[in-house]
Amino acid sequence: MTKIEQAAHALKEGHLVAIPTETVYGLGADACNPSAVAKIYAAKGRPADHPLIVHFSNPALLSSWTTEIPDYALKLSRAFWPGPMSLVLKRTSLAGDFVTGGQDTVAVRVPSHPVARAVLAEFEKLGGLGVAAPSANRFGKVSPTNAAAVEQELLGHLSTDDLILEGGDSEVGIESTIIDCTGELPKVLRPGAITVEMISEVTGLEVSKGPTKIRVSGSLDSHYAPKAKVVLDAEPAAGDGFIASANVPTPTGVIRLLEPKDDQEYARGLYLALRQADALGLAKVVAISPTGAGIAEAIRDRLSRASH
Ligand code: TXA
Ligand code: MG
Repeated sequence: MTKIEQAAHALKEGHLVAIPTETVYGLGADACNPSAVAKIYAAKGRPADHPLIVHFSNPALLSSWTTEIPDYALKLSRAFWPGPMSLVLKRTSLAGDFVTGGQDTVAVRVPSHPVARAVLAEFEKLGGLGVAAPSANRFGKVSPTNAAAVEQELLGHLSTDDLILEGGDSEVGIESTIIDCTGELPKVLRPGAITVEMISEVTGLEVSKGPTKIRVSGSLDSHYAPKAKVVLDAEPAAGDGFIASANVPTPTGVIRLLEPKDDQEYARGLYLALRQADALGLAKVVAISPTGAGIAEAIRDRLSRASH
């Protein structure tokens, strides 16, 4: 059996598989198997009422998991799947309370990473319908963007039947854009690489943002946090870690953790830089937020949560 076939079988048998995606690595389980999904919550130490995203490769499965799909959601799915976008829609009976945290909606995503696509397709060949996968980190911690980071987060919390798949560094580096599609207008619950401008252009609609009744654990003020204290837009002192775009020079005695040439590179490297700070045992990291629109907004969102 290939690694991909092994992983698909492991999922079908109710084990956990850490799967590389283009956003971050996910910790996957068969979304139709309550005891498999329970293992995700145990491994992450995540509260049971925090809902999960269901992943599949065949876009036709959208109508197996969700109903009352507005036209704009279909447009979004055609434009941005496979890719770094999750849609929240009314659930069908396939989406159990154990996946949705008891809500009447479910979040779904078709990822584009070749390894994720291959595992999901193979799982679907075996009769699987979807893989529930949160980011493969312990609750509240920084999401992993490569296999080594997953091991760091979860070793000791996985069983010997569980697998971690290798898929290089995640291309996007921050979690998918989550869009609530249950209202008249699309609403961004978590910013990401699919930006408000892109959503607006594809749907021809105004996009709303901001607080929502729906529970999003990524919307807790403190999240994505390393051990080091993260301070935004301040002057770093000697011995501090420092994250800023490449055109900002490194002050003397400061430990440069990231110097991205553009916002894409900033997003791609951010979580590795925060991990690096912890690996070096730094007490403090100063980050200079990127300005501007697009994915910079998502970076500011993650920086602000990491700094709480
Ligand atoms: O990029 C991603 O989305 C990654 C990869 C693995 O796909 N996954 C990810 O999952 O970030 P997680 O569980 O770490 O974050 C998913 C967020 C949570 O904050 C959760 O509360 C929210 O999605 N969510 C899930 N179902 C929801 C629903 N029905 N309504 C509102 N928010 C939901
Ligand atoms: Mg997460």
